[in-house]
Amino acid sequence: MKFFVDSADLEQIAYLNDIGLVDGVTTNPSIIAKSGRDFIEVIKEICAMVEGPVSAEVTATDADEMIKEGRILRAVADNVCVKLPLTMDGLKACKVLSSEGTKTNVTLCFSANQALLAAKAGASFISPFIGRLDDQGLDGMELIEEIRTIYDNYGFETEILAASIRNVGHIKDCALVGADVITSPPDVIAKLSQHVLTDKGLAAFLKDWEKTGQSIL
Ligand code: G3P
Repeated sequence: MKFFVDSADLEQIAYLNDIGLVDGVTTNPSIIAKSGRDFIEVIKEICAMVEGPVSAEVTATDADEMIKEGRILRAVADNVCVKLPLTMDGLKACKVLSSEGTKTNVTLCFSANQALLAAKAGASFISPFIGRLDDQGLDGMELIEEIRTIYDNYGFETEILAASIRNVGHIKDCALVGADVITSPPDVIAKLSQHVLTDKGLAAFLKDWEKTGQSIL
């Protein structure tokens, strides 16, 4: 399963990238606004830091304008992936940009029917939002399962990029269901390493080692 970092925080991306935990990055207008950075500049810096796809989202809502914006974003770096909202205009822009060889990530997906349309429009990635469905008392993981089944039924090549990840349980469940990618806030990825028994075991090892009076260095 590929790990994308859902952030524009260069320091946090670099920290995880140095551990080999970054296969790509996703951003959206809210993440860019939170960064306080110039959009094109921060995307350029992220693309230079990581090898994998970096999602940069259009802000137009009309297909022709989305296509124009997508071409501008695509020109920023070879690993830019143009992010498009799951609307009919977004799907039309996806079809055009994908046919030009641009990687596309269709976002704000909340139903299997929407994901079916994105695959038929040639999307490289589909971003179903788990956490926002859970927030509504619905079952975000059920959507991931439905999309996995539909895509496998017909051999669609669109990759399931599970998004709106809220906790480590979402990441485990996505791995069990077979999502191709998860995109997660950096702190949730870091939390995957944490277990109380690991902490206890390490403390016990070091306490016993100290009794030997030895040192490796
Ligand atoms: O990539 C989509 C993601 O940023 C949305 O997450 O937490 O705003 O639902 P969230």
